[in-house]
Amino acid sequence: MQIGWYPGHMKKARELINDLIKNIDLVVEILDARLPQSSANPVLQELRGRRPFIRVLNKEDLADPTVTKAWKNYFEQEEGVKALPLTAKNRSAAASLQKLCRKLVPKLGKPGRPLRVMIVGIPNVGKSTLINTLAGKKIARVGDKPAITTCHQQIDLRNGILLADTPGLLWPNLEDQEGAQRLAASGAIGENAYDQVAVALFALNTLVKDYPQRLKERYKLADLDVETSELLATIGSKRGCLVAGGEVDTRRAAELLLRELRGGKLGRISLETPSQPRQSDTL
Ligand code: G4P
Repeated sequence: MQIGWYPGHMKKARELINDLIKNIDLVVEILDARLPQSSANPVLQELRGRRPFIRVLNKEDLADPTVTKAWKNYFEQEEGVKALPLTAKNRSAAASLQKLCRKLVPKLGKPGRPLRVMIVGIPNVGKSTLINTLAGKKIARVGDKPAITTCHQQIDLRNGILLADTPGLLWPNLEDQEGAQRLAASGAIGENAYDQVAVALFALNTLVKDYPQRLKERYKLADLDVETSELLATIGSKRGCLVAGGEVDTRRAAELLLRELRGGKLGRISLETPSQPRQSDTL
């Protein structure tokens, strides 16, 4: 799966973060609450050193609340780490994040002693959305593409907090293929970069295992105890994803399933739980 990150870009981004972070008091990594491990950057934990670290579990509105709670507990086992579930689009997100920042670094964030916060995350986790909510207006961002690693800007929230925004700097863990499939299923990766049918089958597997009732209800399925390819064909047939001659158009069925999953039509769904070891942990 090609996501547009190459070793040279990663090395450069790593050096840039290392350089920028010297002037930072607190690091905020935005994760996707539906797949917090797979949407994390593999080296940020190391780069942050001993700085307080907030892991924002964004898109809380789309994730399973019980699983999000489990992730919060999981991340907070680590010293100096707080996890904060939120919905970046909501105005309340700004207040809860700023409150936590001030709590973690109480001596700063006052006139003459700004609290310097770095906001990072892989593409599509909601950095722009959250920064706009924090700033209370739309902030124009430059270079917000993976692999463009030289742009960053500082945003003064005018309340003692300075945000260092690092658009597009971080990359996901591409070695973990299951993680990459979850990222694709969540919509974080451009559609041309993966096989839609394979990702839909992967998502179906998760749904059969973790959310069988929702799947049955949404697509009026009587029996889930069949191959996922058969399930996808049944969904396609029920939803009229057909080619001439009446055969199921598997690609359209895959697109439909992924679109509905991402849009919350199956309810609030998490694609991974803290109890699932990552592929890279088990090698
Ligand atoms: P980025 O800067 O990290 O790349 O991410 P960005 O803010 O551009 O957000 C990526 C997509 O995720 C956007 O959707 C955005 O609306 C959506 N998003 C961000 N935060 C939340 C959230 O808390 N909940 C939900 N449900 N969605 C969120 P898009 O379809 O790409 O753009 P748009 O049509 O919404 O503008």
